[in-house]
Amino acid sequence: MLYGVRLKMIFCLLKILSIFIVNNAEAKIKQPTSPHIIMILADDMGFDDVSFHGAKEFLTPNIDALAYHGRILDRLYAPSMCTPSRSALLTGKYPIHTGTQHFVISNEEPWGLSTNVTTAAEIFKKAGYATNLVGKWHLGFAKTEYTPTYRGFDYHYGYWGGFIDYYQRRSKMPVPNYNMGYDFRRNLNLECDKLDTYVTDLFTNEAERIIINNKNTKPLFLLVNHLAPHSGNEDNPLQAPAEEIRKFKHIKDPNRRIYAAMISKLDESVGRITAALERANMLENSIIIFYSDNGAPSVGLFSNTGKNWPLRGQKNTPWEGGVRVTGAIWSPLIEARASIFKQPIYVGDWLPTLAEAAGVELPKDFELDGISLWSELKNDNTETNYKEREIVHNLDDIWNVVSYMRGPWKYINGTTSNGAYDNLITYREEYDVDPRELRYVVEVRNSATSKALRKYDKYRLTMYRIEQLRDKAAVKCGNLQRSCNALLEECLFNLNDDPCEQNNLVWDTAYKNILNDMRESVESYRKSATKPRNLPGQLEYDPSRHNCAWTNFLEEAPTNNTLDCGYHGPPCLETTDVGGRNSIIHINKFI
Ligand SMILES: *[C@@H]1O[C@H](CO)[C@@H](O)[C@H](O)[C@H]1NC(C)=O
Ligand SMILES: *[C@@H]1O[C@H](CO)[C@@H](O)[C@H](O)[C@H]1NC(C)=O
Repeated sequence: MLYGVRLKMIFCLLKILSIFIVNNAEAKIKQPTSPHIIMILADDMGFDDVSFHGAKEFLTPNIDALAYHGRILDRLYAPSMCTPSRSALLTGKYPIHTGTQHFVISNEEPWGLSTNVTTAAEIFKKAGYATNLVGKWHLGFAKTEYTPTYRGFDYHYGYWGGFIDYYQRRSKMPVPNYNMGYDFRRNLNLECDKLDTYVTDLFTNEAERIIINNKNTKPLFLLVNHLAPHSGNEDNPLQAPAEEIRKFKHIKDPNRRIYAAMISKLDESVGRITAALERANMLENSIIIFYSDNGAPSVGLFSNTGKNWPLRGQKNTPWEGGVRVTGAIWSPLIEARASIFKQPIYVGDWLPTLAEAAGVELPKDFELDGISLWSELKNDNTETNYKEREIVHNLDDIWNVVSYMRGPWKYINGTTSNGAYDNLITYREEYDVDPRELRYVVEVRNSATSKALRKYDKYRLTMYRIEQLRDKAAVKCGNLQRSCNALLEECLFNLNDDPCEQNNLVWDTAYKNILNDMRESVESYRKSATKPRNLPGQLEYDPSRHNCAWTNFLEEAPTNNTLDCGYHGPPCLETTDVGGRNSIIHINKFI
């Protein structure tokens, strides 16, 4: 009898224990403690190409909603070009410390981000995250070991190089003698599915799929590197679906009209990704970041009509128009939502900042240039408790350009493109106003993003709050006093008073000590710089010797005969099953 009771008790205990274990396991699956991290990058988007800074030419209701429900990153800084900007994001280091400080990787060049450096994807993967990259890479692909799935990403869907055509997914570098090459992959395999679908939609679909399939099973690290609004190939640089372009009939400039449609699809992407996170019940434990990798190229190489107004300069210049980028962050973990984050923050800060947010310990010997600003982002901060941020925007001893910021001070020595873009300031269009502007607040509040995020609001996003934030997010320039000619002189600005770089203090003796300090800091950074890793391309790397695709060309013998990939591109790679990756069987199907 007693024995039986005992047995029963033991049995009961076991059962309870097993339920406990199962529950615990389930709890673990349902509720990853580490927040999901979703970063959505625009490529070459201008500072004034979102409506939350006050522009009214075309609206970005989803991006604006993310910013208003979350925090506007008022002074987010990034290197002024793609490769250095993406290397800083993924390594937490200045481009001078990874050898990526000079220009970008053109597809035919046999170099990449050093495999010695640890990437954010590797860090988060090790911490148990599912790491996914959708879209652009641009950190090298000449060897397999440079490519995303060898640099910490479990999965990649997108392209390896600098840009592609929005429908045909192939690219011709703006250098003589190189041909059009196909550049679109799922992990290492060429991907030909859904050719002719607008690529912004493809990336959004893929991001949605990843989110829905993830369903909170693992903390998610998802980087969505959009092509938009980077220009495509020279023969057809600006591309958007016709029905999207029709929504912007009020814009007279036909190029700008297409650009507005490109941004509109990007804005839609932000809405759809946020809504997918909501559907997957992931929002309450997510951090969503949106930003542009660098300023827009308003004119010149890859110009897309983007506007960095009222900032000076553009992409690939040392000026604010190149390095101060549009950005916003949202997370319910951030207390100080619905406010502007005035603290300067650098894209290299994301790695340590997000690691802190996720409770991920970084290796002790990790030498980062980025600093964690998680507590600043999380909590309400006023100008009095700023962390003084020093940023080496660039130190390129090939082109002799220095752009360096510390506290309010900015130092520029030398410039790019022989100064061609130094006095470039675009304008804000006042006449071609988006008809939706009349109901701006309604548009923002009715956006997919706002609908998903509003239930986490502490305060209702009222018309007053929106208008106040929009007004505060506008950059107010002072008056032009003494412009700096960077071809002839060094420049020193006080960005607190002079965000538009209109008053060179270099000749004012009152700033002599500051100037000397800045020069000394630059010199000491110069000593710490790594040699640029750039290597020139060779014709045998050309797509015409590699079945009309951009491939891991250092690992693959070029064909003896040169294929005619045509200016209008390669044959699409019709089959994938036969010879494994990179095997293109039906070479005769031209499109
Ligand atoms: C990588 O690390 C090795 C060993 O520390 C070093 O010799 C080499 O120069 C490094 N390579 C790069 C590209 O930084
Ligand atoms: C500024 O540029 C000049 C000319 O290139 C150079 O001689 C000087 O060393 C530079 N100074 C700093 C601090 O970079």
